[in-house]
Formats: sequence, structure tokens, C-alpha cells
Amino acid sequence: MKHTSSSLEDTQKIADGFVVNLSPKNDSAVVVGLYGNLGAGKTAFTKCVASSLGVPDSITSPTFVIEKIYVLKNQKFTHLIHIDAYRLEKAEELLHLGWKEIISDPKNLILIEWPENVADIMPEHIKISLNPLENPNSREIEILN
Ligand SMILES: Nc1ncnc2c1ncn2[C@@H]1O[C@H](COP(=O)(O)OP(=O)(O)OP(=O)(O)O)[C@@H](O)[C@H]1O
Ligand SMILES: [Mg+2]
Repeated sequence: MKHTSSSLEDTQKIADGFVVNLSPKNDSAVVVGLYGNLGAGKTAFTKCVASSLGVPDSITSPTFVIEKIYVLKNQKFTHLIHIDAYRLEKAEELLHLGWKEIISDPKNLILIEWPENVADIMPEHIKISLNPLENPNSREIEILN
């Protein structure tokens, strides 16, 4: 499904709709790969998803942290895990962060920026592509389930 967002408020609405339609799986985490260039809005979209799931503090980019875990209250998932693979040189580095364990827990919703960098170890995942449009506040957001 392709959406056009003209503002962060629009992106919030698109994220709200995305979260409402998400269903946990029986035997593994729901993994979402966020595709798009620098500044496309991958972190912005993640913040909107976090907000939809009741995460109180606006989240920051985990570029220097790689992985951040948020505990969710009264949601269909118990944890939102935000990973930024931009600085990872090898997929192996993610394995050291317990990747296999986190992707096998159906209570986890995992959003990962720069999934291209760890393509070898990405499980089946929802693909979201963000692309800037001519207006600096506009984005095309495509969700492929
Ligand atoms: N409609 C919109 N949707 C999302 N972000 C928008 C929109 N309009 C403007 N922006 C802005 O674009 C910027 C996107 O930056 P963001 O850090 O989310 O990009 P990113 O894809 O995570 O980049 P990086 O690869 O460097 O991590 C933010 O400053 C955000 O406020
Ligand atoms: Mg980012």
C-alpha cells in the first residue's frame, strides 16, 4: 500500500494505521525493515510507531547505540525494539546483540533501519520504503506486507 505524507502529522496517521493492522505471529517476532536514504524518515516513522504504542518519551535515533528496547504497556506486543544497522559492517555484529533470540519472540515488534546492511540474517519481514518527494516535508511511504 502506497501513502503520501505531507507532514509529520500525516506520517503519524500512517503509522497509527499500520500499528492497528499489525498482528503478532504465533512463533516469531514481527520484523519491519525500514528502507530509504539518509534523512528519508526511517527514525521519524519509528517515533510515530512508538507514539502509537504509547511509548511516552519521544525516541532518539539509535545510530550510536544500534539497539533500543522499549517496554510497552497494554499493547499487543510487550517490546518495541528499534535497531539502526547503519554502522554495522557485518551481519554478525547483530548476532552478538542477541538477534536470534529477539526475532524468535512473538511478543516483540522489531523495526530496523538499514536492513540492507544485515540482509543475510533478515528473516521474512514487512518492508516499508520511505522516499522524499519534491516538497521537503513530503514523503512517499510504501508498505509491503
Ligand atoms: N512527512 C514527513 N515524514 C517523516 N519525516 C519528515 C516528514 N517531513 C519532514 N520530515 C523530517 O525528515 C527528517 C527525517 O529524518 P530521520 O532521522 O527520520 O531520517 P532517517 O531515514 O532515519 O535517516 P538516517 O538514515 O540518517 O537514520 C526528520 O527531521 C523529519 O522531521
Ligand atoms: Mg535514522
